[in-house]
Amino acid sequence: MIIAIDGPAASGKGTIARRLAAHYGLPHLDTGLLYRAVGAKALENNVDFDDTAALAGIAAALDLAALDAEALKAGPVGEAASKVAAVPEVRAKLLKLQQDFAHQPGGAVLDGRDIGTVIAPDAEVKLFVTATPEARAERRFNELLKRGEEVTPAAVLEDIRRRDARDSGRSSAPLVQAPDAQVLDNTGLDVEGSWQAALALAERAR
Ligand code: C5P
Repeated sequence: MIIAIDGPAASGKGTIARRLAAHYGLPHLDTGLLYRAVGAKALENNVDFDDTAALAGIAAALDLAALDAEALKAGPVGEAASKVAAVPEVRAKLLKLQQDFAHQPGGAVLDGRDIGTVIAPDAEVKLFVTATPEARAERRFNELLKRGEEVTPAAVLEDIRRRDARDSGRSSAPLVQAPDAQVLDNTGLDVEGSWQAALALAERAR
């Protein structure tokens, strides 16, 4: 069984994906980490975001086993990730790895922006998890505060809106809802409510 979870930044899709993976005993891949790893490397090595060949080279050399989720979740990396994710050559280099992960025997859970549309259009369960920009910004702000980062609510909302626009507006695998995805808008829900709703939708589809 393949479970594809897509949605915008801070929609709670990662938490849902992790919990569904645990619930069904499936391996899980947070595909945002791949783009974050490429973005982080580009920042570290001062690679120009227009240098598509260099960015594709970084993507091709990525080691799944070496991804440090904690470090990659930090503030500036998200912005860099969404820039490199708009480069078709980068997406092409990361395609097979994700498709292989999705199609391993027994199945898998993947979350990202294009899982139900590009990586695994054949997924049995497809959820599109979303919430208003304001609700997502509030969650992200609280998360960043806990991590000790110095941010303002206005700056976080601005960042969310910028990433939404870039992720939805790019020509290569934009963030769109797959026609056969079930939508979960968790704007008024807490983490537990969002999880219960997601589980009910997954159970209905599988
Ligand atoms: O989900 P997360 O915020 O970690 O993703 C970081 C960035 O990676 C997103 O803003 C998006 O541009 C990109 N991404 C993508 N396709 C995916 C997963 C993430 O383009 N499947």
